[in-house]
Amino acid sequence: MLAELSDHVMDIAMNSVRAGARNISIAIIAQRDKGTLSVSIGDDGIGMDEETLRKVSDPFYSTKAGKTVGLGVSLLKGAAEICEGEFQMRSVPGQGTEVEAVFPIDHPDVPPLGNVKDTFLLLCVTNPEVRFSFRFSADGKDFEMDTKQVNDILGGLSISHPEVVTFLSNYLEEHL
Ligand SMILES: Nc1ncnc2c1ncn2[C@@H]1O[C@H](COP(=O)(O)OP(=O)(O)OP(=O)(O)O)[C@@H](O)[C@H]1O
Ligand SMILES: [Mg+2]
Repeated sequence: MLAELSDHVMDIAMNSVRAGARNISIAIIAQRDKGTLSVSIGDDGIGMDEETLRKVSDPFYSTKAGKTVGLGVSLLKGAAEICEGEFQMRSVPGQGTEVEAVFPIDHPDVPPLGNVKDTFLLLCVTNPEVRFSFRFSADGKDFEMDTKQVNDILGGLSISHPEVVTFLSNYLEEHL
């Protein structure tokens, strides 16, 4: 099992990057009234046909070069199922993929959130060509960030420029 939810988010979002996504949206949302903590990642990458989609939650399926096991999806699915939560993966070839795991928020086996701040930061600064939209609503915080807005403010400066990384790191630290 991966220890923390932010590790799962990193893994699933990197699948989206590998699938050639230009737009990736990530949401971590706790809803006390519903008793749920949901983690969802959507992309507009190459998608998968039905047969591939069925195979993906099998730990022995991977299309990564030289790899015979692919653990990312099956680990998140397993983490949700251990808590009697729900896991869904939908995909349309040529359009994209959506992954959603919903945890019963008070279940003792719900993984800790981990370092959401560094996960968001690392994803956007190491994949400057991708537009990320982040939403985090939990622990009394409600945070949204769209890297399109960040890029608009930056003009031509890259989101991975060291000064921008420092600025974003402080910004996320303050709000997350
Ligand atoms: N968002 C996605 N879009 C298109 N295909 C995907 C997506 N996510 C997963 N896949 C397909 O499912 C396979 C399994 O994904 P999974 O994350 O479980 O393993 P992996 O990425 O191959 O390896 P690992 O995560 O262990 O490094 C991938 O190799 C890829 O073919
Ligand atoms: Mg993976």
